[in-house]
Amino acid sequence: MIRQLVLSLLSGLLLTACYYDNEEDLFQYVDQGSADCAVMTAEFTADIVPILTAYCNRCHRDGRTDGNVNLEGYDRVSPYANDGSLLGAAKHEAGYFAMPPSGGTIPACDLQKLTVWIEAGALNN
Ligand code: HEC
Repeated sequence: MIRQLVLSLLSGLLLTACYYDNEEDLFQYVDQGSADCAVMTAEFTADIVPILTAYCNRCHRDGRTDGNVNLEGYDRVSPYANDGSLLGAAKHEAGYFAMPPSGGTIPACDLQKLTVWIEAGALNN
């Protein structure tokens, strides 16, 4: 009897722990989404360059131009921004090479920054 009680208490604790873990994850996700994704404007130097540096320049830069693509500097990036291939590749859209090539897409908030910047004319700002 006592053993059963202890067991059920223990499993109750375990279940509760799992429940709270999930709740934390959920809230973390929601917080991050609302905070980072309220993107209304994006500038090349402040917003786009850091994204390219983090996820793209490893393969697309001076000294390594995979697919013959260099994404270092505004003059190199802007043709891909204007012909749709930068966003198409980053969003893994059909008809474009999925970039980065392995794993998932870059974070949603970064995709949104790219989108906002391109929709505003992909300016050198
Ligand atoms: C691990 C290396 C690697 C990384 C990281 C990478 N690329 Fe690429 N990229 C390639 C290769 C290789 C190609 C040539 C196409 C192919 O063979 O898949 C390419 C091609 C492209 C093209 C040309 C597509 C076309 O339609 O001609 C664009 C645009 C591009 N990448 C953008 C990006 C962007 C944006 C990122 C970051 C989000 C990125 N790449 C990250 C390797 C990479």
